[in-house]
Amino acid sequence: MNENLFELIADDIEKQGYSIRPAALPEAISGPLFDHQQSLHADKYIDAGIGRRDDYLKNDFVRNDEICWITGQSDSGQAWIDWTSQLKRFLNQRLFLGLFSFESHFAHYPPGAFYKRHYDAFRGEANRVLSVVTYLNPNWGATDGGELILYRDDLDQEGISVVPLYGTIVVFLSEEFPHEVRPATRDRYSIAGWFRVNTSINNRIDPPR
Ligand code: OGA
Ligand code: MN
Repeated sequence: MNENLFELIADDIEKQGYSIRPAALPEAISGPLFDHQQSLHADKYIDAGIGRRDDYLKNDFVRNDEICWITGQSDSGQAWIDWTSQLKRFLNQRLFLGLFSFESHFAHYPPGAFYKRHYDAFRGEANRVLSVVTYLNPNWGATDGGELILYRDDLDQEGISVVPLYGTIVVFLSEEFPHEVRPATRDRYSIAGWFRVNTSINNRIDPPR
């Protein structure tokens, strides 16, 4: 059942480097994730920052959402991790991306919150290869804001606008596409995740985040 969707995503990535698929995440995955995120208490979230463990910096000017890492402790989180692992296997076979590990978090953008234009990875750092975002907002309307704008390159000012509607999946090459999250007029819920290549060297284990 997933194979059709994975094939569509692989084709999109091959042709254009990104894939935007509305109503794509299976309800068996999105339903429990939605329930879980809605039941997360405010104290489970941390203020989002920029960078990884050792150089993690909070910067309200760049982003002011809050996040909660998905560890697989909940059934819904584990189902999501299993599903993304199937996607990883499929894309590796089809596109030889060499995807190795996966990390992801719930994100909550309160009304007015944003994430300014950024890259998820920088060329040469060989870490995050493929970004995956999915949305858990039923009945999101055209006037609610909160679009993800995916830019084709550094010069693109117009971008491709994605409405953060429940079940939409966005996948893109992390080094290729600058993107931003526009402020919304209501609470915006998403999951953002990244597939990475294995960058462990000399027995020094590269931490997943
Ligand atoms: C991110 C991100 C996009 C979104 O967390 O890096 O770009 O639409 N999220 O939530
Ligand atoms: Mn991003």
